[in-house]
Amino acid sequence: MNIVLIGFMGAGKTAVGQKVAEELGYKFVDTDELIEKTAGISISEIFAAKGEDYFRDLETKTLKNLSGSKDLVLATGGGMVLRSENVKILKQLGPVVLLWADPEVIFERIKNETHRPLLKVADPKAEITNILKFRQPIYKKAADFVVATDRLSVAEVTEKVVDYVKNKG
Ligand code: S3P
Repeated sequence: MNIVLIGFMGAGKTAVGQKVAEELGYKFVDTDELIEKTAGISISEIFAAKGEDYFRDLETKTLKNLSGSKDLVLATGGGMVLRSENVKILKQLGPVVLLWADPEVIFERIKNETHRPLLKVADPKAEITNILKFRQPIYKKAADFVVATDRLSVAEVTEKVVDYVKNKG
């Protein structure tokens, strides 16, 4: 089995994913990281040089390469669920866990970071609210289990994910 983490930028997919992997003895894989490794440049550079559609193609390719994998905790880029073909692959990989956070919390978590091209805009807070509103139904539909992370620490979110996975058997 694998565990798939989805959710918006700043939802904690990487931090939680690493910890969940540690606790379950699974391997942690992050699609953004795989894409950067393969491309040899950063995601910001990919967006700048080739645009978002090209990046989305790389996401789908990366995911296809992972299908058939076992014992992974997979953290996905925040936009991975935008393509229904990606969601299909994610669901085949294993239970899909949505890490949810409200826009204010996301903004607080990411405001000092600079590596997210979609948020390099004049008003990132408004941008987060807009994108999140658009994506909310897509995230919720793709998810088998949702953790509202707003008031939780990484350790607490990890515990919820691990409990969920263990109870699934
Ligand atoms: C994106 C999220 C980013 C990264 C890219 C696009 C998005 O990943 O894939 O900047 O569309 O939400 P994180 O969610 O890991 O920040």
